[in-house]
Amino acid sequence: MSKLERASFGSKLGVILATAGSAVGLGNIWRFPYMTGQNGGAVFIIIYIFCILLLGIPCMISEFIIGRHGQANTARAFRKMSGGSIWSVIGYMGVLTGFLISSYYAVVSGWCLEYIWASLMGKLQGDPEYISNYFVTFSQDPVKPVFWTFLILFATYMIIAHGVRDGIERASKLMMPTLFILLLIIVAASCMLPDAQKGIEFLFKPDMSKVNGDVFLAALGQSFYSLSIAMGCICTYASYFSKQTNLAGSAIQIGIIDFLVALLAGLVIFPAAFSVGVNPDSGPSLIFITLPNVFQQAFGGISSLGYIIAVLFYILLSMAALTSLMSLHEVSTAFLEEEMGTTRKRAALAVAVCCIILGIFCSLSLGSLSGFRLFGMTLFDLFDFVTGQLFLPMVGFLTCIFLGWFVPHKIVRDEFTNMGTLDNGRLFHLYLFLVKYVCPICILFIFLHQFGLL
Ligand code: PHE
Repeated sequence: MSKLERASFGSKLGVILATAGSAVGLGNIWRFPYMTGQNGGAVFIIIYIFCILLLGIPCMISEFIIGRHGQANTARAFRKMSGGSIWSVIGYMGVLTGFLISSYYAVVSGWCLEYIWASLMGKLQGDPEYISNYFVTFSQDPVKPVFWTFLILFATYMIIAHGVRDGIERASKLMMPTLFILLLIIVAASCMLPDAQKGIEFLFKPDMSKVNGDVFLAALGQSFYSLSIAMGCICTYASYFSKQTNLAGSAIQIGIIDFLVALLAGLVIFPAAFSVGVNPDSGPSLIFITLPNVFQQAFGGISSLGYIIAVLFYILLSMAALTSLMSLHEVSTAFLEEEMGTTRKRAALAVAVCCIILGIFCSLSLGSLSGFRLFGMTLFDLFDFVTGQLFLPMVGFLTCIFLGWFVPHKIVRDEFTNMGTLDNGRLFHLYLFLVKYVCPICILFIFLHQFGLL
C-alpha cells in the first residue's frame, strides 16, 4: 500500500477509544486490583498516579511520535527515524514482544470467555473449594482452554481483517463505551453492599507505613504494562493517527481513561471482597477463583443478582481483553503486510494461525505439558518472563534513549507541536526532560532490581 493510501483512524474519538482499548485490558481489571491489594491499597494508587504521569505518559508520547512520524509498522517506523542505523533493532524487538505476548494474552483472554459461559450456565456456584478446583481443572484441561483461545483469536482476526477504520475503530467505538457502562453498573452494585465502605476506605485511605522500594517498582511496572508500552501497539496505532492529532493531549486522555477503569475495577472488587470478609490480596487467582466466590456470597447464587453480576463482569473482562488483543494482533499484521508486501487479510490470518499454535503450547504448558520446561519455567511462565521482565523494560529504556538523545530535537518537537501549530512548547520541555533523564533511569532501576542487582 502506498503512503497516500495508508489506512487511518477516521475521528478523534476513534483515536482515543482505539488506543484506550489497547491500554484497558486484563491489566486494569485483573492485575491492578490485586497489586493494589498486595501493596498497601491507597499508597500504591498514589505512587501509581505519579508513575503514569511521569513515566507512562511520556513513554506513550514517544511511541506516538515514532509511529506517526514513520507512518508505518513499528519496525519500519524505527528504521525510518533512525535512518536505518542499529537503533532499528528496537522496532523489531517491539514487534517480537508484541507477537509473543499476544499468544499468551490470548490464552488468558480465552479463560474469560469460558467464565462467561460457566457463569451463564450457573456452573460457578458452590463452595470455595469447588470454585478453586473448577479453575484448576479447567486451566489444565487439554481441550477446553484451547477451544476458547481459538475462538477469541478468531474474533480478533475477523476484526483486524476488516481494517483500521471498519475493524479496529468500529469495534472499539462499540466495546469501550459498553465496557464503561457495565463497569459502572457493577461498581454501583458492589458499593451498595453492607460493609462496602471498608473496601472503599482501603482504596482511598493512604497508609504511609506500607511504602517501600518494592511498592514503587510494582507501580512502575504496572503503569507500563497497563498503558501497553514497549510492545509495538502504541507505535502501530499512532501510525494511523492524522497529522492533526494532538499527541500529548491524547496520551493524557488515554492515561486518565486507563487509570479510571483500573480504579473502578478496584471499586468493584474491594467493596465486594470486604463485605464478605475475603482478603483481596490473593494474587493472580483473584479474578478466576476469589471473585466468583465473592460474587456468589455477596450477591447470592443462581436466580439472584449474583448470577447477573458474574455474567456481566466476565463479559466486561472479555471485552477489555479483546480490545487489547486486537492491538497486539495489529502489530504483527501491519508488520507482515508492509514488510512482506502481502494483503491485510492474509497477514492477519498468518498472525492468527501462528498465535493459535503458540497459544496451544502455552495453554498445554499448564496441564499435560507442564513437565516440559525451558530455563526451569513452563512455556506460559517463560513468555510472561521474557516479554514482561526482559523485553518490555529493554524496549522502553532504549526507546527513551533513542528519542531523547539521538533523534534530532527538531523532529521530536515538530511531531509534539504538530509543526508548531499547537501552543504546547513548555510542555515539550518537560516531556523532553522526562524522556531524557527520568524515564531511562527509573526503567533501568526496575530492570536491575528485578534481578536482584540493586
Ligand atoms: N495494556 C493491556 C492491559 O492492561 C495489556 C497489554 C500490554 C496489551 C501490551 C497490549 C500490549 O491489559
